Amino acid sequence: MPEEKILLKNCGIIDPGNIETYLNEGGFEALAKARENMTPKAVIDEIKASRLRGRGGAGFPCGIKWELTAESPDSEKYLICNADEGEMGTFKDRYIIQNDPFSLIEGMAITAWAIGAKKAYIYLRAEYHFLRSVLDNAIRQAAEKGFLEGIHFEIQEGAGAYICGEETAMMNSIEGVRGESRFRPPFPPTQGLWGRPTIINNVETLANIPWIILKGASWYKELGTEESKGTKLFSVSGDVENPGVYELLMGSELKELVLDLAGAKDVQMVLVGGAAGRFIPGDKMDTPLCYETALGSGAVMVFNHTHNIIDIVHGLVRFMAEESCGECTPCREGTEVMIEILGRLASGEGRNGDIEILERLSAAMMDSALCGLGQSCPVPLLDSLKYYRSDFVNRIGQSVFIERM
Ligand SMILES: Cc1cc2nc3c(=O)[nH]c(=O)nc-3n(C[C@H](O)[C@H](O)[C@H](O)COP(=O)(O)O)c2cc1C
Repeated sequence: MPEEKILLKNCGIIDPGNIETYLNEGGFEALAKARENMTPKAVIDEIKASRLRGRGGAGFPCGIKWELTAESPDSEKYLICNADEGEMGTFKDRYIIQNDPFSLIEGMAITAWAIGAKKAYIYLRAEYHFLRSVLDNAIRQAAEKGFLEGIHFEIQEGAGAYICGEETAMMNSIEGVRGESRFRPPFPPTQGLWGRPTIINNVETLANIPWIILKGASWYKELGTEESKGTKLFSVSGDVENPGVYELLMGSELKELVLDLAGAKDVQMVLVGGAAGRFIPGDKMDTPLCYETALGSGAVMVFNHTHNIIDIVHGLVRFMAEESCGECTPCREGTEVMIEILGRLASGEGRNGDIEILERLSAAMMDSALCGLGQSCPVPLLDSLKYYRSDFVNRIGQSVFIERM
């Protein structure tokens, strides 16, 4: 199946530094349609009907949370665009900002208007400082054209913490306090930034909004699968000939992306969704990419047969331990114990019972960690134990065996 370009349609066509080129492609017509022909409630109903789900990883239905914020009687409401893009192997939000920043600004303007927010933040990943001027310029040009009336935009740069991509830690970061997750409830749509109703959406989610408003929910929900509507951007990296960002219909098979488009020649396994993602073995390349199976942020990392699964998982957990905010015990301590055991297994010094401890620890973390970081950290580990268990078993007692020989 060829690429289905909706979000990437303008990329390479428009000049990201010149709003006129965006206007020539029909830019800001969706905002005009929303403001002139629709009510805020009608916009929210359209997004609900489209069944758009969040593209940041969790896949929460977009319109449902918008409605909660819109219906709140609070006079002060906020919109935050999550441009932290800290998930390992993910670079699709950067691609949108770099190539079509106006679609993000238009999506944010429609969203802010629909939910009743007068202040809109873009939380930009520290490493994306080089994109600051692109966004500043796009916001300035859109404001000069009168498209941002009634909404004040502010860019907040992160300081390089993965946890600050998590929505409640992000709100703490914007408020100027330590980037740690908050207990929920209350949930951000009713009590978020400075205790006010707040919508946080991913860059890609927001870039979908103008298209849905312009072409209608009935067009949009024809695309994709039952639970996953529209298209998805995938950031493909690793052992492929053509790494990059691709846009496919939801439900496209992994092989179309990894073999046909990215040109992988030898696939041992694919990690879909980053450090908290799912492993798909090379003999399951017909797996559809959608919320029903594996998706996450859309990071697709391809590993050929030169890699060892234990080393990969060890690396993923080390990343999580490094990035854990340390606030809750299951995540702070659990990741360290996992590193210790995986390190033992990696060097062939695993002990009887290590695999079972990893499984019990995983279950405990998934049940009791405070936020998605600790809850999802065990996911690739458990997948690797499911598909490559013998690799782990073979590392138990190996050094003892060698000594005895
Ligand atoms: C540890 C952690 C890191 C996250 N990082 C990001 C991120 O970089 N970008 C993002 O959009 N969502 C990230 N999320 C998900 C956000 O918490 C939130 O679900 C998302 O911004 C909501 O937007 P959406 O509904 O449009 O996806 C992260 C979640 C966790 C638990």
